[in-house]
Amino acid sequence: MAEIITSQQSIDSPENFNYDIENAVLERYQEGARQQQPSLCCPTEYDDTYLKILPQEIIEKDYGCGDPTRYVNPGETVVDLGSGAGKNCYILAQKLGASGKVIGVDFNDVMLDLSRKYQQEIAQRVGYYNTQFVKAKIQDLKLNIESAEAWLKANPIATMEQLSAFDTECDRLRKEEPLITDETVDVVISNCVLNLVHPQDKQQLFQEIYRVLKRGGRAVISDIVCDEDSTPEILNNPELWSGCIAGAFRENNFLKMFEDAGFYGIEILKRDEKPWQIIDGIEFRAMTVRAFKGKEGPCWERKQSVIYKGPWKKVEDDDGHIICRGERMAVCDKTYNILTNANSPYAKEIIPVPPYQEIPLEEATVFNCKSKAIRDPKETKGKGYRVTNLNGDDCCSPGECC
Ligand SMILES: C[S@@+](CC[C@H](N)C(=O)[O-])C[C@H]1O[C@@H](n2cnc3c(N)ncnc32)[C@H](O)[C@@H]1O
Repeated sequence: MAEIITSQQSIDSPENFNYDIENAVLERYQEGARQQQPSLCCPTEYDDTYLKILPQEIIEKDYGCGDPTRYVNPGETVVDLGSGAGKNCYILAQKLGASGKVIGVDFNDVMLDLSRKYQQEIAQRVGYYNTQFVKAKIQDLKLNIESAEAWLKANPIATMEQLSAFDTECDRLRKEEPLITDETVDVVISNCVLNLVHPQDKQQLFQEIYRVLKRGGRAVISDIVCDEDSTPEILNNPELWSGCIAGAFRENNFLKMFEDAGFYGIEILKRDEKPWQIIDGIEFRAMTVRAFKGKEGPCWERKQSVIYKGPWKKVEDDDGHIICRGERMAVCDKTYNILTNANSPYAKEIIPVPPYQEIPLEEATVFNCKSKAIRDPKETKGKGYRVTNLNGDDCCSPGECC
């Protein structure tokens, strides 16, 4: 039998668990689909407008802990990780409109049956059909489990060779018929599910979220977080794992997971002041985080600058650029767009300073990405603009601004 875990650090080692996490989660939510489980419900406020047309059963079998649907816009393509009874998907079906689409992902047949049970009826009420529910593990969004199971039915496994053939078929499905392809999704949402994933799969889970998002896309995730590491007693309790407690991220680590996966503009949108539960003095509460994809790529010099309005003396972005309050900071084209585009999480605090004369991308030179560089206003104005005293083309002074 597996050894009992004794510290938070050891939860990274799967062999340290004395129970099967995935099955504990599966069984708990199969039951949750059959019958409402009040102990799994974390009080959450939704916009009532979108609940009016939903069947009572979908409203009641809600095991979420936040409302990521608030941060989604009409026309977007959304994936909901661990869609359960489908409440978040059906709210989104209305918000997204006929031009948008939502794909609910769950690995639990009983939940999938429940979410699909009302699909036609809700589509009729909404006036269009824009929902889909698929079977997959959220940490492996390429593998369509229904296709894998169809193969298994035709090719039952009794030997190692057959097991190996099944693995090969799964790899083929991921490669040739991926369920969710790269860079096709505007928003990935999830409501109280990421904590349920096995620790050894959590890093892959964030990589999968990143993979499916388009450049410029975002993740909006509500989940349970804790303020201190869980005790061995909590970690060894399957009820507490499937009850969204034992697998909760420590709040700072939750944001770090997004950072490590390559996201930028990571922000806590909501953190419940009141804990949902306190166990052994550890507070477990709901938090909603948003994070953007798209900071990688070349840096081109197009003479753009930004001014940070404050109130902090200086700020640093996820690429290490330090932006000083009130200074005209030189940035590359990519950072300029990240900081100033209409949907940017930074836009409210940043004043864009474009050059008087735009430099076409084909003519742009490589930008020397210094962490702190002030751009002379003369440079922004360009040589033709009553400027007689330019010191060459060198862009910025790496001055000690802040
Ligand atoms: C706490 S419930 C949340 C359901 C839904 N998001 C809501 O707000 O009501 C967790 C759901 O995620 C599903 N789930 C848990 N782990 C999963 C995994 N690794 N892959 C896919 N689905 C998973 C469960 O079957 C269950 O339906």
